[in-house]
Amino acid sequence: MSATPHTPVPHDLNEPVPMTLPRLAEKKRLGEPIVMITAYDYPSAQVAEEAGVDLVLVGDSGAMTVLGYPSTIPVSTDEMLMLAAAVRRGLHTPLLVGDLPFGSYEASDTQAIESAQRFIKEAGCDAVKLERGGTSVQRARAIVDAGIPVMGHVGLTPQTATALGGYRAQGRTAERALQVARDAVALQEAGCFAIVFEAIPAAVAEAIMPRLEIPVIGIGAGPATDGQVLVFHDLLGIYDGHAPRFAKRFRDVKAQMVAGVAEYAAEVRGREFPAPEHSYSIDDDELERFTAGLG
Ligand code: KIV
Repeated sequence: MSATPHTPVPHDLNEPVPMTLPRLAEKKRLGEPIVMITAYDYPSAQVAEEAGVDLVLVGDSGAMTVLGYPSTIPVSTDEMLMLAAAVRRGLHTPLLVGDLPFGSYEASDTQAIESAQRFIKEAGCDAVKLERGGTSVQRARAIVDAGIPVMGHVGLTPQTATALGGYRAQGRTAERALQVARDAVALQEAGCFAIVFEAIPAAVAEAIMPRLEIPVIGIGAGPATDGQVLVFHDLLGIYDGHAPRFAKRFRDVKAQMVAGVAEYAAEVRGREFPAPEHSYSIDDDELERFTAGLG
């Protein structure tokens, strides 16, 4: 028996081909913009699939957008795994990246490897993401050495926002910008297959780009990166919390959802819903026998 996993052969050549790490690297080489989005459940995964994005991140932003926590800090690995497994069930083509939550990888290489393995084994993720340079570089190296692809994340790293002075742009002094550059290069050298730049000046991102051979996905890092990522709920206007300036709102879906539910409530209260087309029928003689049976 061959241990090579079975790659489904597309029925027709127009069917999307699953994203792989070599295809991602090829996109960078060809200068094709890479599209990443977050997803946290089965329907958002199906939306990402049908919209044809390249990468899906089950971000720990889900702590706030779908679980209602005030920040990303409280979310547990078990909660993240439940979200990631639901996304896996709705996703077939994009590469699926699971976000290692705060407290699941910092303590030791062993802890980092064990957490990453859970995302691969239990949730079916293709890769994991972790935040920061510093000690995270060694954790990234350990996970890569254990055979799991890792995405890095530098600039504004929400898991350590307090230490960074809050949710604010990073790399706005020469020293801090150099630190972002050093962290990014160190994560590349540790074997990361890609890296997220969050909330850094566009000119800083542009200056670092020539130092990086791996794809760089930006969020609030200007147009020079190889791709962009946005949080699903920000771009669709589902989330009411504070939206950073880089979170362009492409739709106002929450307004549509509220309008739909309000209309439903009004129709129930006005006895307009359900209408005959929403009800089941029964043959007259069966109904007669039934009512007779009821006495
Ligand atoms: O958790 C998240 O959604 C993220 C993205 C903003 C990159 O880390």
